[in-house]
Amino acid sequence: MNIILLGPPGAGKGTQAGLLEDKFDMVQLSTGDMLRAAVKAQTEVGKKAKAVMDAGELVSDAIVSGIIGDRLDELGPDKGVIFDGYPRTAAQAHALDEILSERGRKLDHVIEIAVDEDALVDRITGRYTCANCNAGYHDRHKKPSTEGVCDVCGSTEFKRRPDDNEDTVRTRMTEYRGKTAPILPIYEERNIVSRVDGMGGIEEVSDALNAILS
Ligand code: AP5
Ligand code: MG
Repeated sequence: MNIILLGPPGAGKGTQAGLLEDKFDMVQLSTGDMLRAAVKAQTEVGKKAKAVMDAGELVSDAIVSGIIGDRLDELGPDKGVIFDGYPRTAAQAHALDEILSERGRKLDHVIEIAVDEDALVDRITGRYTCANCNAGYHDRHKKPSTEGVCDVCGSTEFKRRPDDNEDTVRTRMTEYRGKTAPILPIYEERNIVSRVDGMGGIEEVSDALNAILS
């Protein structure tokens, strides 16, 4: 099974992709995570992407489609994939069609996580992750069970994304509305789009996704 999770910044794509990985034995491919890793490692891609990401704009189609193709080649052909944050433009959607067909894969579902934009600023500005294992937390909605200690690995170091400030979030939302939401009709024509209400709690959204995929 190959699926796309589509939704604006803070919709819960990463949170839900992580849950689906465990439940369905699939692999999450997040272009955002891959680009952040490239920035941290100061690769050529990372150097090109850093300023664009910090501004909340979109990195070039060729770069992101290139990394997605490379990552798929590293996976076995039978491993199902959850695309998180890719594709984000019509050019990326067409590139993904080619990338998948060249590898004998097809898209099974495109799931839009629908949210109220006002809630997203709160979600994003409260988000942080474990600096050691990357487990995700939130100041209000998902605190570690012992304050200041990661539930997963016990680390006491946490970090926040440089693009998780209100100004950048607004730019990211404008990019989503202008360039990413318009790709939905490409998939609607193929009858593979489902919508879940992303405004419920994390568990409720997860149940809605499981119902679509089971
Ligand atoms: P990316 O990393 O993909 O960021 P994004 O799309 O802006 O989305 P987020 O990761 O911010 O949100 P999410 O939907 O994953 O939400 P999360 O689950 O964390 O991209 C970053 C940048 O990289 C882009 O701006 C661009 O520059 C570049 N880029 C990446 N891909 C690209 C591409 N294809 N093309 C070009 N450029 C690209 O949840 C958010 C918070 O809310 C968390 O704290 C979570 O705990 C909490 N939460 C989640 N669900 C719920 C819920 N149901 N109720 C309450 N709280 C919740
Ligand atoms: Mg994410």
